[in-house]
Amino acid sequence: MTVLAPTLRRVLAPRLGSISTRLALWYALASTFTLACLFVTGYFVLQRHIVSGLDMLNLAELGEVKAHLVRGYQPDDPTFLERRLRKPSERSAALFYLDVRNDHTGVSFVSDNLHGKRLGGSVGKGNFNLDQAGIGKLRVGRFQIAPYTISIGTAAGEVQRMLEGYAEIGLSLLGCMIVASLVIGFGLSRIALRPVRMISETANRIRSDNLSERIAVGVARDEISELSTMLNQMFDRLESAFTQIRQFSAEASHELKTPLSLVRLHAEKMLLSGALAPAHEEAVQLQLEELARLDQIIEEMLFLSRVEAHAISLQLTHANPAGFLQAFAQDARVLAEHSGQLFAHSHDGEGQVSFDAKRIRQILLNLLSNAAKASPPGGHITLRSLLEDGCWRITMEDEGPGVAADQYERIFERFVRLPAGPANDSGNGLGLAICRGIVGMHHGRIAAAPGVHGSGLRVIIELPAPGV
Ligand SMILES: Nc1ncnc2c1ncn2[C@@H]1O[C@H](COP(=O)(O)OP(=O)(O)O)[C@@H](O)[C@H]1O
Ligand SMILES: [Mg+2]
Repeated sequence: MTVLAPTLRRVLAPRLGSISTRLALWYALASTFTLACLFVTGYFVLQRHIVSGLDMLNLAELGEVKAHLVRGYQPDDPTFLERRLRKPSERSAALFYLDVRNDHTGVSFVSDNLHGKRLGGSVGKGNFNLDQAGIGKLRVGRFQIAPYTISIGTAAGEVQRMLEGYAEIGLSLLGCMIVASLVIGFGLSRIALRPVRMISETANRIRSDNLSERIAVGVARDEISELSTMLNQMFDRLESAFTQIRQFSAEASHELKTPLSLVRLHAEKMLLSGALAPAHEEAVQLQLEELARLDQIIEEMLFLSRVEAHAISLQLTHANPAGFLQAFAQDARVLAEHSGQLFAHSHDGEGQVSFDAKRIRQILLNLLSNAAKASPPGGHITLRSLLEDGCWRITMEDEGPGVAADQYERIFERFVRLPAGPANDSGNGLGLAICRGIVGMHHGRIAAAPGVHGSGLRVIIELPAPGV
């Protein structure tokens, strides 16, 4: 038992955690308890009913006995009782047991079916139950009709057996009730909780890129529809806050660009005028470099906020990726050589894919620049492309240090630059976020993984290619 209890708790606890299980259990408990109460009440009502029926029978028999005693009443004759009652008692012996005693003379009469025994002797009065040795359970009515005490008994064993049968049937019906009510309870609770499940599924789907979806509100004005309406209002507020933030970053980037261009123009003008001392000239040169960097950040922020606001439309073309990759590889080889690395590419699979060549090229250039920054001199950067089973899979792999396993997702967040990144890194942490945005617009996926040989970083892009 001590071992069983914790085991049961361990098995049941998570199951009981769900509302539908608890509702089903409560339902089963309530309905079984109600039925049990009805059965117990029925038992006692039935018992009373049958017993009072037996008492009525005894009373009716008393009328018979009285009629025999009243006619030609001879109280002093000791054989009077015997003469008057023997025959009638034999006729009704199947039903009744008779014990009559003349309290004045002490003469008494017992029916043959009592085999000489008295019916309860002096025990009991009125109507009572008696367990008569050798005969069984009897319901006895004892009546005082001076000078006689008349006791009439009826067999009650059958009643007892009937009540036991009732109890047995009641118990098995209760067992069936437990099973049936559990099943019905589970069904009902699932139906009752369906709207709650729908709410949680929809709420789970609503994310920053899908903020316009709403929970369906039922026609019935009940607590669930009120909850759905409240949640929808909350999503409305969230959506408008999100839109404002996106608009703000788009507008801020836009507004920053004009003054920045003016500052750059002035600085370039100063340089070109040749009137600067060499030390100042160097400072202005530095300023121009930082301005270029700032300009790039603003450009990328603006682009990213447009992607997230779905304000950029793709120029989709239906083309064979092999040709597109061939063209990209030519440029990639030159760029990789420029930074001292070797670039190789391969493509397998035949078919056409719908994609925006300019944007996919932007992604690949981004990945190439990351790989080139991370790779050691003379390192290999490999681009593999595979078109099969309705999917265009592109992987870019390098021989750099890679990133820690818990950073594979984080590097796609905005402004994330890992401390262990390359020393000459001039990036701003927006490149991979932009890649993910563009891949998302193509309804594809992008993820990072370790290189096939365990070292380096492998970035995998999967784009849908229906019909391949
Ligand atoms: N091929 C790679 N090898 C190692 N680390 C990488 C690689 N690509 C990206 N990272 C890490 O992920 C960070 C985010 O990359 P990215 O979004 O392109 O930003 P950026 O290149 O502008 O720094 C980088 O700063 C770098 O730390
Ligand atoms: Mg980058």
